Amino acid sequence: MKLIVAITGASGVALGKKFVDCLPEDIEVHVIVSDNAFTVESFENRKVTLHASEDIAASVSSGSFRVDATAIIPCSMNTLAKVACGISDNLATRVAAVALKEQKKLLLAPRELPFSAIALENMQKLAALGVIIAPPVMGYYSDVSSLEEMEEFIVGKWFDVLGIENSLYERWEG
Ligand SMILES: Cc1cc2nc3c(=O)[nH]c(=O)nc-3n(C[C@H](O)[C@H](O)[C@H](O)COP(=O)(O)O)c2cc1C
Repeated sequence: MKLIVAITGASGVALGKKFVDCLPEDIEVHVIVSDNAFTVESFENRKVTLHASEDIAASVSSGSFRVDATAIIPCSMNTLAKVACGISDNLATRVAAVALKEQKKLLLAPRELPFSAIALENMQKLAALGVIIAPPVMGYYSDVSSLEEMEEFIVGKWFDVLGIENSLYERWEG
């Protein structure tokens, strides 16, 4: 599996990083970051190919690169709005536009609280096109007792929806 993960400037960058760190080793991961402070070493548990958000000509910017899925975690309202309007002015918005045109899996994890009517409208528009709108929403049925476990629950739910095997959280068994 080939996966692109873009980390945009919303609160919750740690969640995007955790998502990448928890990915199984056999997945080829391309990470797009806008913050120059990120280095390959920032990703503790796995090998990644890092791309700068400004690098609009990176390999992943083309549909011919053929990825299985693209995830934007966290997804700022700014990036959400651009994706909903078809704007691709940086690598994160470009890979989202490519996922849409190639009809590949696209997961957005919008992070804001509360959501404005504009943000909700953008999400509704994208959801109708098949985009997975999966904000980091806490769940309490999985017996979590720490922030770390809550993050693993959320990352596990994202993995589930992308078809990535995981045992990051305790599943409801009735
Ligand atoms: C400390 C801080 C926290 C922010 N948190 C959020 C957030 O949770 N959600 C959001 O949509 N924007 C947030 N923003 C605003 C975005 O960073 C801003 O809209 C930026 O232009 C997004 O750019 P990008 O979409 O290219 O990453 C935050 C900004 C700062 C400085």
